Amino acid sequence: MNDIAFKRHRRLRSSASMRALVRENYLRADDFIYPMFVIEGEGIKNEVPSMPGVYQVSLDLLLDEVKEVYDLGIKAIMFFGVITAKDEIGTGAYIDDGIVQKATRLVKKEFPDLLIVADTCLCEYTSHGHCGVIHENDVDNDESLKLLAKTAVSQAKAGADIIAPSNMMDGFVAVIRHALDEAGFTHIPIMSYAVKYASAFYGPFRDAADSAPQFGDRKTYQMDPSNRLEALREAQSDIEEGADFIMVKPALSFLDIIRDVRNHVQTPVVAYNVSGEYAMVKAAAQNGWIDEKSVVLEMLTSMKRAGADIILTYFAKDVAKWLKEEN
Ligand code: PBG
Repeated sequence: MNDIAFKRHRRLRSSASMRALVRENYLRADDFIYPMFVIEGEGIKNEVPSMPGVYQVSLDLLLDEVKEVYDLGIKAIMFFGVITAKDEIGTGAYIDDGIVQKATRLVKKEFPDLLIVADTCLCEYTSHGHCGVIHENDVDNDESLKLLAKTAVSQAKAGADIIAPSNMMDGFVAVIRHALDEAGFTHIPIMSYAVKYASAFYGPFRDAADSAPQFGDRKTYQMDPSNRLEALREAQSDIEEGADFIMVKPALSFLDIIRDVRNHVQTPVVAYNVSGEYAMVKAAAQNGWIDEKSVVLEMLTSMKRAGADIILTYFAKDVAKWLKEEN
């Protein structure tokens, strides 16, 4: 073979130490945000059927759950509220004693250095399940912005460290930034769900958060999965409006978009490894069809490789545990 020229790439794969030496991407517990579902009531810890290992937890049991997350070295959590008394205008999202506001105050008191990211949206609180106010069978963009601004301010008042608007109305970053600044929260960053697709991968989440739209779909505000340039327009305008983080969601079927966005913006990029991505892995693993740990690590590493700095994932606790075991 010596007279035939070719490259020997296997030299750098020859041992575990060699592979570690040349490894390009890593997962770290520091890079995770763990999403949690807080439900009204007492003594409740309901496993979400389509998301094994993920629970709706009532406030009285929440601190124990959070302690587990905190002790694993995870630095940030995100809250979603699950309530029964919903109305047309999503009042539960922005009242002072809303479920997320209460959870935030409770956890912040006990774990002051744990970052609380507030998902700022109305769909968990509206009777129709849409992310904004409905007029003539569609979401009214500018009316919804007013309520989102109220929601963001009430979350910041409760102690949220990061505001994460996810409802995909035009102008939400500008309006929320303005409202936060007016209310004295100039120091609170905005993590915009800038690039959020109208995806079928949100199914299990809508069960967990009881937030499925009662009519129609979200296609007039969430993005068409066929589009790529549109993602850059969304990211660009949110940067101009003052977003401090840009999120791409979902992650797994949109790794190309994560890379595009990474190449275009200078803010941290967040990938949301959504409920359907979690459910698929869990279901296959429970059937013994894949090796869960290897698949999860490969999947999340692909998001880092695509350019994500931060990963929002229901696997955060599992991965943090595995990383601990390795050290
Ligand atoms: C709310 C919101 C959704 C998710 C996060 N925030 C659902 C939606 O748009 O229906 C989905 C997260 C997941 O699937 O894990 N707007």
